[in-house]
Amino acid sequence: MSINRCYNVADFRRLAQRKLPAPMFHYIDGGADDEITMRRNTSAFDELELMPKVLVDVSKVDTRTKVLGTTLEWPVFLSPTGASRMFHHHKEIGVARAAAKSGTLYSLSTVGTTTIEDVAKASSGPKMFQLYVYKDRGLTAEFIARCKAANYTALCLTADTPKPGWRERDYVHGMTMPPKFGLRNLMSFVRALGWSMNYIRDPEFSFANLAHRVPARDVMALLTYMNGQFDLSVNWKDFEWLRKQWDGPLLVKGLLSVEDAKRARAAGASGVMISNHGGRQLEGIPASVDCIAPIRDAVGDSLELICDGGIRRGTHVLKALALGANACSIGRPYLYGLAAGGQAGVERLLALLRAEVERGMCLMGATKISDIDLSFLARRGRALSDPGRQPLL
Ligand code: FNR
Ligand code: LAC
Repeated sequence: MSINRCYNVADFRRLAQRKLPAPMFHYIDGGADDEITMRRNTSAFDELELMPKVLVDVSKVDTRTKVLGTTLEWPVFLSPTGASRMFHHHKEIGVARAAAKSGTLYSLSTVGTTTIEDVAKASSGPKMFQLYVYKDRGLTAEFIARCKAANYTALCLTADTPKPGWRERDYVHGMTMPPKFGLRNLMSFVRALGWSMNYIRDPEFSFANLAHRVPARDVMALLTYMNGQFDLSVNWKDFEWLRKQWDGPLLVKGLLSVEDAKRARAAGASGVMISNHGGRQLEGIPASVDCIAPIRDAVGDSLELICDGGIRRGTHVLKALALGANACSIGRPYLYGLAAGGQAGVERLLALLRAEVERGMCLMGATKISDIDLSFLARRGRALSDPGRQPLL
């Protein structure tokens, strides 16, 4: 099967599973504990229904939206994900280029396998850098200076990861960084022959943004350094400090409550990514989409709200926008695209999702993003008895 036979995110996921050794696929695909939160991120969209408006002139549909001080061609951007080299040798560069081609923003993770500068060189599109604040605050200050020098559009601080969640698939399948061919998972490397041959030819794997901090050119030393840098004490004061260092758009990623959103606003955030880390961190917490409306009600227009997690269809995006999100972001979907076909895979994945958004707008009678509000939405089963506006409330 080739990427040209993939017509949706699920197809790309299947192709990614064929192409990747099991540890890498399950690292992308898995979540924490029983993966209930992970699954609910997507299934929660099924409880909502779009309520179309007919006989609207949809000869022109404009999917553009402005967030983070920049205009995106369509209201979905790419969330930060670490270690892209494990999935394809095009790694972060291929993904960033595909995002730029699609007219949207790419986010680079602190634990990416390409430097801040190399991503900037490869793509002139809008870029966000995602910070993990480490014990050595000098390192954070250095990241910020490098992002300024490389003209990054925005920064975000990920707030839901004081330590990694419990992802059992990683233990079951023998996931390690860098990848190790072990007895236990050898067959899965043999089956994913293309990936394995490529990795043997070009085994370069490094957490590129931190590598210079460790004298030895050795990934294990780097990992020891990184693990030692995890700082469980990071708190709102650190975010306030960040705010002073960076004038541009600044997001908190990984909150779900009204209280935390207000706190983010008080600390100077320009927006928040409503997110449970794709269900990879704390289990048993709400789906991102279910947290949009209360936060929007509480903060009005004073914060940009990004719905992160669970988006697999254009109609998911439209539902999130109707609830009050300014835009949505995706993680796994583009990693499936990357694993399935490198940069071309991400390009096709984004093109399909973008077409779904545009087609959905057309079919529901919305001609621009700012039109999309609660009047386009119903709770499942409530529509017939409630023909009025705002059937959700
Ligand atoms: C992530 N995510 C993530 N988030 C972050 O802030 N920094 C990171 O380094 C990573 N790394 C990472 C790796 C992988 C393999 C995945 C799948 C996810 C979380 C990511 O930004 C986003 O919140 C979720 O992926 C959103 O959920 P969906 O779109 O994957 O359902
Ligand atoms: C993850 C880390 C890198 O979700 O945030 O895998």
